[in-house]
Amino acid sequence: MGPTGFLARGVALAAVLAAVGLTTGGRVLAQQEPFYAAAYVSELPTDPRSPVWGRAAASEVPLIPQAGILPALTQASVPKVTVRALYDGERLAILMSWQDRTRDALSGRPDLFRDGAAIMFPVTEGLPNVCMGAAGQVTNLWHWKADWQEDIDKGFQDVVDHYPNFYKDVYPFVTGSPPYRMPQDFSAPEAQAYLAGLSAGNPLSQPLKSSPVEELVSQGFGTATHKAAQNVSGQGVWTDGTWRVMFSRSLKAADQEAADLQGRKQVAVAFAVWDGSNQEVGARKQLSSFLTLAVGEETNQMPVWLWGVFAAIAAATVWLGWPALVRRSPRE
Ligand code: HEM
Repeated sequence: MGPTGFLARGVALAAVLAAVGLTTGGRVLAQQEPFYAAAYVSELPTDPRSPVWGRAAASEVPLIPQAGILPALTQASVPKVTVRALYDGERLAILMSWQDRTRDALSGRPDLFRDGAAIMFPVTEGLPNVCMGAAGQVTNLWHWKADWQEDIDKGFQDVVDHYPNFYKDVYPFVTGSPPYRMPQDFSAPEAQAYLAGLSAGNPLSQPLKSSPVEELVSQGFGTATHKAAQNVSGQGVWTDGTWRVMFSRSLKAADQEAADLQGRKQVAVAFAVWDGSNQEVGARKQLSSFLTLAVGEETNQMPVWLWGVFAAIAAATVWLGWPALVRRSPRE
């Protein structure tokens, strides 16, 4: 092979490597963990069906059944979830979508379980145990619930919505008419005293929901606790066998129990999904392992070291090919 051929091949090799580097952003070589990046948009969507979500790369995240502790799930009913992420410099929004043939949005009867989805971020430094953290390993959970979504979309799904023949002819201190509905007919504080969960301040008994997402803090399964401050908004829509659920929160943590995503170029994140029609709740769910979410780091940038590799290849090619090239030049 003549010097020109050698040079051409060397440059071609460098060009191929450059192309690979640019398209993968060096990820394949640099990052072994599943990795995905939030795309920057000037205005975040508020609807999970918004076309703006098309601006974010879709990552298919495999899910495994939580088979470790009881009540366990032995077979995944939702084998994967597709995730996308967007940010606008202030807030982060994440979209989860998955196949689910049934829309299960009621949970007010013992035999009814709602569909759900959750995102988990570490609060403390280091990678926590994926089982919701552990002692000293604090995690922040964002839990979207289809029944809370239903309460927001259609008004509080009261006993009468679960038991259509339910009837009560009198109730102390209520207004309105039988079968009396929450919360409008129970506005009097005396009436609410008969609603133990509500008057005790149990967030799960609160009929008026400001968000379909509950924010929790946890240091290992069995310790998940409703966070005092709730700062995650969201919306979930079920269409033709697919749930699309978006979550949105400020990058900056509003309190100590929240994961601070501000200025952290890469954060660990894990996902979980519940299928209500498969009686999934609490521990009975499918979950992912931890992924790396890049925020504010344009993934199609090639890391500096990779440019170094190309420069070295190009230099070697010139170094090795040049003398022969110079030797042949006068005649050609
Ligand atoms: C193998 C790992 C895991 C195990 C063994 C596990 C186990 C449990 C258990 C026992 C509960 C009920 C008690 C409690 O509320 O603390 C629970 C609830 C919960 N877990 Fe996990 N979990 C695991 C991973 C995850 C992951 C990765 C996420 C989120 C991405 C998650 C999100 C949640 C949420 C949001 C609840 C509350 C559910 C509800 O109120 O219905 N878990 N889990």
